[in-house]
Amino acid sequence: MIITVVGGGSTFSPGIIKSIALREKDLQVTEIRMFDIDEERQYKVSVVVKYILDQMNSPIKLVVTTDKKIAYENSDFIFAQMRVGKYALRETDEKIPLKHGCVGQETCGCGGLAYGLRTIDPMVEVIDDVTKYANKNHWILNYSNPAAVVAEACRVLRPNARIINICDMPIAILEMISKCIDNAKEYTKFDVDYFGLNHFGWFTSIKYEGRDIMQEAKDYVKENKTLLPLPFIKNINSLNEEELDRHAAKSWIPTWASVYEMLELFPEYFPNTYLNYYLLSKESVEHSNPLHTRANEVMLSREKDLFDGVDHYLKTGEVLESAFYHGAHGNFIADLAVAIKNDTNDKFIVIVENKGMIPNIADDAMIEVNLKIGANGPVYEQREEIGLFYKGMMDQQLASEKLLVQGAIEKSYSKVLASFTMNKTVTSAKVAKNILDDMIIANKDFWPELKK
Ligand code: NAD
Ligand code: G6P
Ligand code: MN
Repeated sequence: MIITVVGGGSTFSPGIIKSIALREKDLQVTEIRMFDIDEERQYKVSVVVKYILDQMNSPIKLVVTTDKKIAYENSDFIFAQMRVGKYALRETDEKIPLKHGCVGQETCGCGGLAYGLRTIDPMVEVIDDVTKYANKNHWILNYSNPAAVVAEACRVLRPNARIINICDMPIAILEMISKCIDNAKEYTKFDVDYFGLNHFGWFTSIKYEGRDIMQEAKDYVKENKTLLPLPFIKNINSLNEEELDRHAAKSWIPTWASVYEMLELFPEYFPNTYLNYYLLSKESVEHSNPLHTRANEVMLSREKDLFDGVDHYLKTGEVLESAFYHGAHGNFIADLAVAIKNDTNDKFIVIVENKGMIPNIADDAMIEVNLKIGANGPVYEQREEIGLFYKGMMDQQLASEKLLVQGAIEKSYSKVLASFTMNKTVTSAKVAKNILDDMIIANKDFWPELKK
């Protein structure tokens, strides 16, 4: 078994590869290949990866390459996690909409749409290269964001691709709930029901070993006005970045508080935190610092820590565990591969084509739901109709995402403008145009040229 990690230079590679190595027996993995287009960045990350494998006495062979044939030949699983345009463009995705008074976020609103327009062609290229070189029964498990747009583009442009698009946020929310409430401490033991789109969904049921804990989770949020655990709430001002969970760094704090605001307004289902950008757009803009966004925070923490850690190791031979993140993110993708490899039929929340599962949502919508995963991938399951509020929100967001993909394929300015305008985070069509025109300049090295 060979696993290729695309975007080998990602800050998440050490954590993901550690999760793979911990499942060496279940996956029968003999070789991991790191592939990236940035040779220098990937080499540095590979230094930490090699150290981790050595520390674990892992027999897995590590290959580090920028050559597609070497990366994909006979590969069985391809874990994709590219950030096209890197953090420099994430910064413009977040700051340009904020400059125009709209939500500035890497995967939601205009920022996510801009990131999507950069990522469609590189993702199609990965699929084509993998199809050419990899084992014919391969699976691409894709984390590369914006997962919703990537999923829709793959559906349209490469409908036969063996790809499952995934997100770690639902798992991160369950992990946070497990830290908040009693007697539910292992997030992997949660049994949930979930529906929506990527970064746009709701838990309809949350159980722990058969016990319904939805109300307990809602009560905790109501009492504490956030979904952060008590030690965080008590020490929030004295904790430094390293002591905080990855998803509880400073700019995430209003995000967790938004769960309270959203549940106060709409108590029926437990919302994905990302809904706050759509339901509380105005408040999200007010919480943001247009001159220092999450991209800046990540560059100064996760990215800096990792690359400082590499330099420290090269000088001293010592690796500090805090230099890299290992946790639910890597475990989720590695567990998904285990489920496919061993045909376990365990449930995972994945992004798939609706094909009638939600009867009152279009068949060709890319939805996010919990499904059994076996050797042939997701096992489709009929669901009930959803309420008009959820359907209305999803239909609007789907239209925005579909228009973007159509605009990318047709290189159409008006379709991309329609996509931006359709997005619930955008306050007017004129504002959409101003954001788009700034985005065209910022993305000139990545976007197709849009014809008016
Ligand atoms: P990062 O910038 O540290 O790493 C991304 C790597 O991708 C870089 O080394 C870059 O050189 C490489 N890359 C860019 N274009 C490429 C291409 N065409 N081919 C191969 N490699 C390419 O970013 P990060 O913060 O570590 O995140 C990595 C990715 O994972 C991002 O897309 C991020 O949005 C995504 N992510 C997704 C989820 C999810 O829930 N789906 C969760 C976390 C991270
Ligand atoms: C969550 C989301 C991802 C997103 C990440 C950003 O995990 O599910 O899709 O990429 O947050 O985290 P960051 O630490 O880079 O802001
Ligand atoms: Mn995600």
